[in-house]
Amino acid sequence: MNTSYLEQNKQRFLDELFELLRIPSISADGAYHHDILAAAEYIKNKLIEAGADKVELCQTAGNPIVYGEKIIDPALPTVLVYGHYDVQPVVPLELWETEPFVPTIRKTQVHPDGAIFARGACDDKGQVYSHVKAFEMMMKTDTLPCNIKFMIEGEEEVGSSNLGIFCIANKEKLKADVVLISDTSIIANDIPSIDCGLRGLSYVEVEVTGPNRDLHSGVYGGAVANPINILSKMIASMHDENNRITIPGFYDKVIELSQDEREELNKAPFNLEDYKKDLGIDEIWGEKGYNVLERTGIRPTLECNGIWGGYIGEGAKTVLPAKAFAKISMRLVPNQGSKEITELFKNHFESIAPAGIKVVVKAHHGGEPVVTPIDSPAYLAAERAMEKTYGKKPIPTRSGGSIPIVALFEKELGLKSVLMGFGLDSDALHSPNEHYGVFNYYKGIETIPYFHKYFAEALK
Ligand code: BES
Ligand code: MN
Ligand code: MN
Repeated sequence: MNTSYLEQNKQRFLDELFELLRIPSISADGAYHHDILAAAEYIKNKLIEAGADKVELCQTAGNPIVYGEKIIDPALPTVLVYGHYDVQPVVPLELWETEPFVPTIRKTQVHPDGAIFARGACDDKGQVYSHVKAFEMMMKTDTLPCNIKFMIEGEEEVGSSNLGIFCIANKEKLKADVVLISDTSIIANDIPSIDCGLRGLSYVEVEVTGPNRDLHSGVYGGAVANPINILSKMIASMHDENNRITIPGFYDKVIELSQDEREELNKAPFNLEDYKKDLGIDEIWGEKGYNVLERTGIRPTLECNGIWGGYIGEGAKTVLPAKAFAKISMRLVPNQGSKEITELFKNHFESIAPAGIKVVVKAHHGGEPVVTPIDSPAYLAAERAMEKTYGKKPIPTRSGGSIPIVALFEKELGLKSVLMGFGLDSDALHSPNEHYGVFNYYKGIETIPYFHKYFAEALK
């Protein structure tokens, strides 16, 4: 289609992505607010240069949303492209082989053509920028086949709560036929796939308090409950011997997949030995009766994401701490509701606290699970587009991750999403040394115009 435009502009497309990756737009830490604005501004300017209209930074109570559109004919279908320019924090910094905001290309086993190492390279700047460049390409070669709207937000990694408010307040502006999102993974560079499900999320922080002050662990230890010991035991008790979650009612609303659906899910190629080798583990773990694809795709989970308390400085300090804390996430599947699960967690956590221990459960952001159709015109357009550029029909998969706003698009805007991602699970998203294949970046730019073309044709 536009392969010569892509060939001629390859280096510039890469240079521009590098520039975006140099901006440390970390949304979890207010110290980077200036960089959040710089990243939003950068994308805004690139959309203007590419030829978008009505490009603006929409202010919210939090980080701005980059909006832009090109309406070529109101009678044609409209695709709303969603993505995020914010990135995860970079700790632990010492584990990065090169600086997180100094993009560097290195070859890896799965990326023999080279991968761009930088925070946000895959999640989600590289994937978002593929859309900006695909749009430029369609504009400059006069091949944009439908209307397009961009909504690139800066708070995905912290729960998208202001985007939710923005969507509800701007239903007319965001009117479209489908949402197109590249913020998920394919199975491998030679095995394209499309995510058809995302898990929901319920995220809580707990505080466990024992005595009214830190105590000498020799003078008082043995006679006063230690909040760290208690918290550890409480967390450990939340999985039974079959690694099922023990919160009463937790599984009540979970939809079990039919045998046929499970078989369909297990058609995705998966090599357990490679999986273990990649992670440096000898054995896997999880809910009895389910395999890895099922445990991460269609089953709910509970994970402790962080735990702290007491003395963690150098050397030894004998102390019985007054408090202990933990951050706990639960991934949810249809039809679990994040509010309800948070409530169940809170009630259970309070009920298992031993006498003499006070607990406080604070709810963080949440999100609802989604399943997207695999027979819609939009899904079929994505399938055809990927088949065209990868030479293979993509496999429908379920992802373990969450993009909480997707459920809200459906509920508030009445829009289904297509999750046409181009990254790999092994690209170290949220981890040190995040990277994105150069191949994947260009493949995205090449594939996206075909999506628009096939989608426009299907809706004609
Ligand atoms: N892009 C990811 C979600 C993702 C990654 C989906 C890989 C499928 C495959 C997104 O940026 C993300 O990290 N979401 C968070 C949720 C958010 C509320 C912090 C997540 O899944 O932890
Ligand atoms: Mn993302
Ligand atoms: Mn992320």
